[in-house]
This record gives sequence, C-alpha cells and structure tokens, in this order.
Amino acid sequence: MRRMVRREREASPGVGPGPEPKAEGPRHVAIIMDGNGRWAVQRGLPRTAGHRAGVEALRGVVKAAPELGIKVLTCYAFSTENWKRPKDEVDTLMSLLLEYCRLEATTLHKNGVRINAIGRIHELPPAQQREIERAVNLTRGNDRLILNLAVNYGGQAELVDAFRSLAAEVQAGRLDPDRIDAAAVASHLYTAGLPDPDLVIRTAGEMRLSNFLLWQAAYAEIWVTDVYWPDFTREHLEQALREFARRERRFGAV
Ligand code: IPE
Ligand code: IPE
Ligand code: MG
Repeated sequence: MRRMVRREREASPGVGPGPEPKAEGPRHVAIIMDGNGRWAVQRGLPRTAGHRAGVEALRGVVKAAPELGIKVLTCYAFSTENWKRPKDEVDTLMSLLLEYCRLEATTLHKNGVRINAIGRIHELPPAQQREIERAVNLTRGNDRLILNLAVNYGGQAELVDAFRSLAAEVQAGRLDPDRIDAAAVASHLYTAGLPDPDLVIRTAGEMRLSNFLLWQAAYAEIWVTDVYWPDFTREHLEQALREFARRERRFGAV
C-alpha cells in the first residue's frame, strides 16, 4: 500500500493543490467530534442543544463516509473523562446515545453499515448496553462501512485492559512474556482486527488527542479544523480527504 502511494506521488510531481482526493484515500478515518458546547453557547443555547445538533452532523458524515471510499469510521462520542461533566449533560449524552442506537440502527442496517462499539461498554447504564448490543447484532453481517462508536472510551483505559488480559494469559501459562510484541498488544485492544486509523480529524480547533486511540494513531495523519462539530458536513470531510492526499506518509523510513 505504501509503495502505491509513493508511485502515485512520483507520477504527479510538484504535489500541487490537486482538487481531487487520490484513488487511495484513507481506509480508516477517526473523528474527535468536539465543539458541541461552544457551538451552543455561541447561539445562546444550553450545551445539551449542541449535543443534539452534533448527532445530526454525525448522521450526515456516516452517510457520506462510504460514498467517499472510507471503510472504517471511528467516532469519539464519550470519553472515560467525560463523566466529570455536570450530571444533566452526562444524562443528555447517554439519552442521545440510546436514541441514536434505537432510531438509526434500521437506517444504518439498510445502508450496509456495521455498528461496532469500543470502550468500557460494560460500565454504561444497562439500557445503553442493551441498545448498543442490539444495534451491533442487527448489523453484524454488513460490510459497506464499519461505524465504530467510541463510548466510555479512553486510550489509557484500553491499554490498561489490554495489559491486564495479556498478564492473565501469562499467569495462566498460555503466553510467554518474551513473545509479547506489538502485534500481540494490538490483538488485545478493543480495535483488534481493524486497521489502524490513517487519518484522525479533530473539530473545534484543539491540538490534542484527548486520550483517543493512543496506540492505533501512532502513524495517523492528523487534521484539525476550527469548525465546530455540529457545523461539520460532507464538504469538510472531503476537504480533510484532499488534505490527506497531499500528505507524505513515511512510517519512519526515508
Ligand atoms: C464534544 O463537544 C462532545 C463530547 C465531548 C461529548 P464538547 O461538549 O466537548 O464541546 P466543547 O469542547 O465544550 O465546545
Ligand atoms: C474529546 O473532547 C472527547 C470527545 C469528543 C468525546 P473533550 O472536549 O472531552 O476533550 P478536552 O477535554 O477538550 O481535551
Ligand atoms: Mg470539548
């Protein structure tokens, strides 16, 4: 795959501002959907209104993603640190998660989307766990797009969970510590079996990862836009893909 990128680059010298994304776009795009609160405050609305608007933006992007050749879309919906927010905001976010799984699952299923969830799902309220499970089961045979919802997700929590499960295998005598390599760690992450993200998008301007995909984003291209998540549209996603097409990925080589 890397070789193909290189060949394409050589075929089009100058790396100009080509308007079209290359045929070989990112397979896995991961999005830090940030700025719902600021979007609302800017309009004199409660922060929760921003989260409602954010769900609409998510609908649009999930529809556009497979049309743009994206195979896996990971969306950061709720972090392990977001429990620190006021109770009414956390409650709204949990209700929206429930609503999204309930109301969108059928549409997503019709559109060939497979829903998957990463994070400490077992720590969510039982109703949310049930709806996620139903959506995952309903859509498990689909392969047009994998929509990976990061809910109660934290990169550090994920690594802690992976190390615990590796340690348990060692303790049980099934795993030799000397045989633990990067692939072994990756196979114990919530994302086992998925390709690493090629592109991480963050909306609302902050230049940080906020505990998102710490392991998997090792060589991801990062694109930050000032646009608040509720205002993010298909056109912004296309802009990100064009930007990605101009990047030179080296993976440590020359
Ligand atoms: C992102 O928007 C949604 C979640 C973190 C759940 P924010 O709620 O963080 O919006 P800002 O960053 O306060 O504007
Ligand atoms: C990251 O946004 C988490 C999600 C988008 C779900 P935050 O708003 O929680 O991140 P910080 O607090 O600005 O780093
Ligand atoms: Mg934020």
